[in-house]
Amino acid sequence: MKKVITYGTYDLLHYGHIRLLERAKALGDYLVVGVTSDGFDAMRGKINVEQPLMERVEAVRKTGLADEIIIEEYEGQKINDIQRLGIDIFTVGSDWEGYFDYLKDYCEVVYLDRTQGISSSELRSSKSALNLGLVGGVELGILKKYFEESLAVNGIEVSGIYGADQSAYHEDKMSTLPYFNAYEELLEASDAVYIISHPSHHYRDVKQALEAGKHVLVESPITLKLEQTKELFNLAKEKKLVLMEAIKTAYSTAYSRLLLLAKSGKIGDIKSIDVTCTSWKDYRDVSDFSEKWNSMTAWGPTALLPIFQMIGTEYCDKTMVTQFLNEAQRFDAFTQLNFIYPNAVAQMKVGKGIKSEGDLRITGTQGYIYVPAPWWKTDYFELRFENQNQNKRYFYQLEGEGIRYELVAFVNEITYHQGNTFIDPQVSYQIAQIVEDFHKGKDLKIIK
Ligand code: CTP
Repeated sequence: MKKVITYGTYDLLHYGHIRLLERAKALGDYLVVGVTSDGFDAMRGKINVEQPLMERVEAVRKTGLADEIIIEEYEGQKINDIQRLGIDIFTVGSDWEGYFDYLKDYCEVVYLDRTQGISSSELRSSKSALNLGLVGGVELGILKKYFEESLAVNGIEVSGIYGADQSAYHEDKMSTLPYFNAYEELLEASDAVYIISHPSHHYRDVKQALEAGKHVLVESPITLKLEQTKELFNLAKEKKLVLMEAIKTAYSTAYSRLLLLAKSGKIGDIKSIDVTCTSWKDYRDVSDFSEKWNSMTAWGPTALLPIFQMIGTEYCDKTMVTQFLNEAQRFDAFTQLNFIYPNAVAQMKVGKGIKSEGDLRITGTQGYIYVPAPWWKTDYFELRFENQNQNKRYFYQLEGEGIRYELVAFVNEITYHQGNTFIDPQVSYQIAQIVEDFHKGKDLKIIK
């Protein structure tokens, strides 16, 4: 008996898949179909598959062409499957031509012509894409990342740009995108906007977008004042729009898993969190800081995230110490915050005018979690105990600095309205409160 194997995601099963399976079956007597697990697809960067694994398996089963269905869960599994199942022929579509030649050491490899004019990606994106406008500050760099990452996410089409430095923009490969001179025009051309203007303009920019009926993904802090943040969340709710805080880390897989592990009691009760975020630049020649993100706004929200998400927002006391590079314009070289909770403590250090190890340590009564620098874009962390034999390491692939996952969460929230499970509004409010206190100088000690 000749055994044939083929692999695929089989999302929104279509004619191209069926033709492939028919021809694969015809190559032998027994067909094994490997369907990729959600985790494996996510790991290889295919994160917008629409149907969950069991639905995709069911669709393949219903074709009646597979004699056996298996799940593909990890890199390198194919060799194992071929040997284990005694496979004679491995086959896939011609879009993979050459890619699986390494399997020739184990069985025959056949590439079948791909059916033209149909794919799961096209089916997904034909479901009316979301037009996303990009609203920048002076610098183009981050908008460029968002544009590039949007290409990896089905269901998003970038409608244009507003606010970034136009001269730089024209030299860039993004220049194929429409550049809008007026914010109103960009809003008109978009269903949603991503905003990274200077934090002092967020309130105005977000409000205008929401009033125009557009969903908003805005870099954190959402505004510089608690009341304004609350007002914008209420406005979004009233208008049935999504307002999402863009803290990339919150949407990444490793961080989400870390959060669950920390809360699961694996390290006992959490007693202390130490978190540091720095990015150094030479500011000696800078005199005007008015359009620059200070250390508190650039890093504060990211650093506050694990503290508020792991030990809550109900601290009893806080002290804040800062050193200003420009006090009048509130530009801090660094700021350190200490929180006291009824049962725990936390310390956060953020800086653009200092450099330090950007790691995250979560101390528990049984052990601790260590996330190496730069923890905010981590794909790796460790659980450590007194008995080192119990230590565990965790690794989760991170694509596109987490921007991709944030965009997927944004599109999903707009499509399915399941509530933002990544950042609770209470956390957003508390972030706004800290940022407000810092700018007002409340509980703030200044060092030279
Ligand atoms: N396939 C094919 N013809 C098509 C689409 C897919 O022959 N028009 C084949 C692929 O080459 C692969 C199998 O079907 O061997 C499963 O492919 P899969 O990646 O699940 O489907 P795609 O439609 O290519 O999915 P996507 O657009 O998400 O990449």
